[in-house]
Amino acid sequence: MTNVQTLDGLWYLAALSSDLKPGAMRRRILFEEPILLGRTKDGNVFALRDVCPHRAAPLSGGRLCDIAGVAVVECPYHAWAFRASDGVCASAPALSSEDRRDPASIKTRAYTLHEGNGLVWIYWGDDAPETAPPDIGLPATFRPKTVTVVDAEGPFDEAVIGLVDPAHTPTVHKQWWWREGAPRHDKTKNFEPTALGFKMTAHAPSSNTRIYKMIGGAPTTEIEFRLPALRLEHINNGRRRILGLTAMTPTEAGATRIVHVIFWDFALLDFMRPIAQSMADDFLAQDGAILSLQNENMKRLDHRPLYFGDADEPAKWYLKLKRAWTARAETGGFNNPLAPAALRWRT
Ligand code: FES
Ligand SMILES: [Fe+2]
Repeated sequence: MTNVQTLDGLWYLAALSSDLKPGAMRRRILFEEPILLGRTKDGNVFALRDVCPHRAAPLSGGRLCDIAGVAVVECPYHAWAFRASDGVCASAPALSSEDRRDPASIKTRAYTLHEGNGLVWIYWGDDAPETAPPDIGLPATFRPKTVTVVDAEGPFDEAVIGLVDPAHTPTVHKQWWWREGAPRHDKTKNFEPTALGFKMTAHAPSSNTRIYKMIGGAPTTEIEFRLPALRLEHINNGRRRILGLTAMTPTEAGATRIVHVIFWDFALLDFMRPIAQSMADDFLAQDGAILSLQNENMKRLDHRPLYFGDADEPAKWYLKLKRAWTARAETGGFNNPLAPAALRWRT
């Protein structure tokens, strides 16, 4: 595990289901590791370390085929074949027929994936999963309506803190449809701890955010943050529901992939899909741009952040949760260190 900031024992968003058509193989760098993500012709997603144990060729440059009905990935260099399901070598074709060496003694690492609601999650950890894959609280039939992906320059922790930071909204996200020019109000938000994080309890959305007015009814919103890097914003007016999901995954050293997906279940919004997509793209590009700006300094100096006021409390909570998660082996299991709290700020 090379990325010291990456928590293990948890699930990260690896891909969208739609990125992985049957028979597809994609090379991705996640957790600073080359990883092959693929889908067999039978429809099963799989992930292998994208490094051939023989001479390091990327397996993703080879082909997906099968040996006696078992899906394997064949290396592009000398055609060693690795089972998609567990990375065990099923064939090393250059061995002579008298050679008694067993290819099955060789393997490339296989990762555990979970697919649901059009999202593919990867478990990052050495042994059997310690935690269940993320439950995003939607029926299985929901699929993403908009998808935005930003590969941001900037360390993972700083990206995640941006996700829970309420105070940047009026300055970074200035769209007309959001709250351009709206005056700041004093706000009080109630928070409570959850299994792997905290949530802002259901409340009527800010009166100075215009987007909510389009939904109609009397919507409430509940915003949840979960380790390692998942933000869920459920908007619900009794009949209709919208989920805005943001997930972050460490990629290269000092870089983070930010993915934002919106789900909804009412036809009216389907007409607005292109608009919703471009709104989400703008929003996420702004987060990516500010992170890159910060990174101009962060990559050069070891800056110690100054957390100031209630609006910076969620950042401290994230770091506290991380520390508690990291210490779980010594403390006899993870205990959420947070307590219910009311935070006050002006946005
Ligand atoms: S490098 Fe993969 S088979 Fe030789
Ligand atoms: Fe933001």
